[in-house]
Amino acid sequence: MTYRIALVCLGNICRSPTADVVLNALLDDSGLDVVVESCGTADYHLGERMDPRTARVLADAGYDPDRHRARQFGPEWFDHDLILVMDDSNRDDVLDVLPADRHGRVRLFREFDPEVSGRPAPGVPDPWYGGPDGFREVLAIVERTSRVLADRLEDEPATDLGEHPERPA
Ligand code: 4NP
Repeated sequence: MTYRIALVCLGNICRSPTADVVLNALLDDSGLDVVVESCGTADYHLGERMDPRTARVLADAGYDPDRHRARQFGPEWFDHDLILVMDDSNRDDVLDVLPADRHGRVRLFREFDPEVSGRPAPGVPDPWYGGPDGFREVLAIVERTSRVLADRLEDEPATDLGEHPERPA
């Protein structure tokens, strides 16, 4: 059974697409039965490409930002095994619509950040209103956190990260 991961931010044009592209790149040759995709809680940018500032930072680092189109969180995301939200506000918005029996599948992305110790984990800072440094910081956070996630998925496929093993229908 495919293990499905949803990465969620607000607009799905900056933070979660960055995590989507980076984590998919890390898992590309892993052979794992894992699907990683991203969406936003808002509909502001539905169908749009990444924010050009995000796309530039990703392209400069050797990733492909061009295939992404913004999507919105909704019922078709409720069956994902692990729902990784970028910040507390995204989590609140997801929990508002997600059936209560699935709330355990929602975790903050930075719970896996190796530079974060203790809880609660901080959010991935929203770079939308800031300058270029904010976009580079998002990529740095996402790269180190995604390496941890990819290692965990490879070491213990679909185990203590969230729901899957033989997920009930
Ligand atoms: P994201 O960033 O949630 O990381 O994609 C934002 C994108 C758009 C807006 C805010 C944040 N916006 O207000 O349109």
